[in-house]
Parts: sequence; structure tokens; C-alpha cells
Amino acid sequence: AQPIRIALIPGDGVGGEVLAEALPCLEWARNRGRALETVTFPYGADHYLATGETLPDSAFTDLRDHFDAILFGAVGDPRVPDGRHAEEILLRLRRDLELTVNFRPCPPFLSVARTVDIEVFRENTEGSYCLQGSTEVGRAVDLSVHTEPAVRRLLQAAFARAASLGRPLTLAHKANVLKHGHGLWMRVFEELRAAHPEVNARGMHADALLCALVQDPTPFGLIAADNYLGDLISDLCAAFIGGMGVAPSISFAPHRPHRCAVLAEPVHGSAPDIAGQGLANPVGMLLSTALLFRYLGWEPEAAALETAVSDALAAGAKTRDLGGTLSTAAMGRAIRERFS
Ligand code: NAD
Ligand code: IPM
Ligand code: MN
Repeated sequence: AQPIRIALIPGDGVGGEVLAEALPCLEWARNRGRALETVTFPYGADHYLATGETLPDSAFTDLRDHFDAILFGAVGDPRVPDGRHAEEILLRLRRDLELTVNFRPCPPFLSVARTVDIEVFRENTEGSYCLQGSTEVGRAVDLSVHTEPAVRRLLQAAFARAASLGRPLTLAHKANVLKHGHGLWMRVFEELRAAHPEVNARGMHADALLCALVQDPTPFGLIAADNYLGDLISDLCAAFIGGMGVAPSISFAPHRPHRCAVLAEPVHGSAPDIAGQGLANPVGMLLSTALLFRYLGWEPEAAALETAVSDALAAGAKTRDLGGTLSTAAMGRAIRERFS
């Protein structure tokens, strides 16, 4: 069989530090017989500041047409205050690869205080992230565009997952105010709800949802949301499982418009406040790698990596964000040494 081609984009700040801990896991999967090859791409703030290039079109088409998957660190750098490169690299990949579904699970084994088992389904390509707007004197506009195909794809993925797990599904919305955009969400949601009587599905105003989540996250199962609300909700949910350092995510195009239809990345950003000090927690990155293994059909490797993370944490291996003293590399080793 042709090897799976995985593009590596470390990006900025802690992105490269945490991605470095995923590389031995890829090597381990390869040694277990998974045919894969990797190519590393240099795009990020350093490359942009040195060359003026964010993500060249030729690189985009190469990624789109000649790779199966992208493993991404993070982008964002204080030297690029307008975040232009982040937009043209990460948001472009999400949008132009049509990675509609951003899946951000909060695995129960990471739970802090109360056992949560929440999975956020975030629309990943449009809404407030359509990057259309204008600034005039005294007036600024950010458009938010919602299209039925993307909303339907996202909600279909969420309903299918809720049905297969037998878990409740909540749609976060503000249709009381955002009559047009969230009105469309409600219409598609109601249609799918009628088609899936087996799913316990309801809509909730996003403000009330946040309050209910903080008070008691345990009754929630899957949460579907548009791009902006999903961004906020997924960081809130990260707090239930130990914070930004541990939360994983994977984005995919269920309709597979291109060869490259998946991108795995931690939920966190480039963490400039701790970058370059070996303090970053690699768990979010490694659990994202496990999500990629599962997406590729490599279930034994996915499960082994998740178990290794869970066992390492249970044995007390922790980076500073979790109250421990291990460096990024030592945490990566503590996890890998538990591979069966
Ligand atoms: P951030 O996620 O980078 O950091 C928020 C807080 O979480 C910081 O205190 C940071 O130290 C901590 N943190 C993040 N990752 C951690 C890890 N692996 N281990 C331990 N602690 C960790 O968010 P921010 O500070 O709002 O943004 C910083 C930059 O990253 C900005 O430029 C932002 O746009 C960008 N960003 C990028 C992505 C991405 O590439 N997917 C995601 C979020 C933010
Ligand atoms: C995330 C990040 C990005 C987002 C930023 C870096 C544009 O916060 O992946 O959650 O808002 O989607
Ligand atoms: Mn975010």
C-alpha cells in the first residue's frame, strides 16, 4: 500500500516543542508496521519575517493534493501583532481544505474535580471566521457568514456521533439575537432532530449554556456550535480536564473534497509566555496525534497512546501547568515508556 503522507507544521512558540514529542510516536507507529512518511514545512512567524511568505499557493496545493494529513503545532507570535501569518496559514488550511468539523473531546480520564465526558463539535470554516469586514472612522464591521452545506455537515457529524454513543447533544446558539445566521442553524438542527428521534437533542442559548456548564458539566455529552461559540466553549471545557495544555483537537472534511482531509492540532496556541523554556505540556499534542491515528484507522495505536497518557498522568508524571516539575521532553518520555 502507498504510505500515508503526513505534513508536519510546527509553527510558532511551543508549537515546535510539543510537535517534537509526537515525532517518536509516529516512528513507533511506523515500527509497528504502519506505512507513513512525513515532510516538515517551515511556515510560521520566523519564515514570514525572514521571507514575507505566509503559506505560498504552491505549498497549499502541495499539501492539498499530495498529503493525507497535517499534524500542526500552533501559530501566533508577538512579532506579528495583526496575526496575518496565522490567518493565512491555519485559517486558510481550515477553510480551503474545507475542514468543516473541528472535534474537541474532553476525555473522562483527564477530568479534574468532576468526571466530564464532553465532546465539542465546532464548525471550523465560516461564521465569524469568514474574515470579511471593514473599518471606517467610528464604525467597524465583522461579517459572520453561515452556509447550509457547512452547517449541515457539522450537525450531521454531531448527530451521527451522538446516535452511535447514545449520548445527549446540545446545540449552543443565540438565535434569539442572531436571527439570520443562528436561525439557519436552528432550522437544520430541527430537521436533523426530527430525523434522529433516538438522539436526545436540544438547543440552548449559549449564555445560559456557559452558566450551566460551569455549575455542573457532568450531564452534558456532545455540544455543537458555530465557529466562534465553539472556540469559546472548547476552551471553557479544557478547564474541566486540566487546562489548555491537555486539550486535543482534530479537524476534518467529512465530504473529502481533497486528498488532504484532516488536520490534527492541540487546542492551545503558541503560548509565548512559556515558549522556549521546555515548560509546555505535550499531552494536548499527543492526544491530538492519537485522534489522527484513530481517524486513519489505526485504532490499536490510538488506544495505546491514550492509555500511555492516562497511565503516565495517573503515575504522577506532570508538567508545571498541572502542578508538576517535568519538562516537555521528560513528559513525552514518561508517556512513551508506557507504550505496550
Ligand atoms: P495560548 O493557548 O497560546 O496560551 C494560553 C495560556 O495557556 C498561556 O498561559 C499558556 O502558557 C498556556 N498554555 C498554552 N499551551 C500550553 C501547553 N502546551 N502547556 C502548558 N501551558 C500552556 O493562547 P493565547 O495566549 O491566547 O495566544 C497566544 C498566541 O497563540 C496568539 O498569537 C494566538 O492567536 C495563538 N493561538 C494559536 C492557536 C493555534 O495555532 N491553533 C490556538 C490558540 C491561540
Ligand atoms: C483555536 C485558536 C484559533 C481560533 C486562533 C489561533 C485563530 O484559538 O484553534 O482555537 O480561534 O480558531
Ligand atoms: Mn481557540
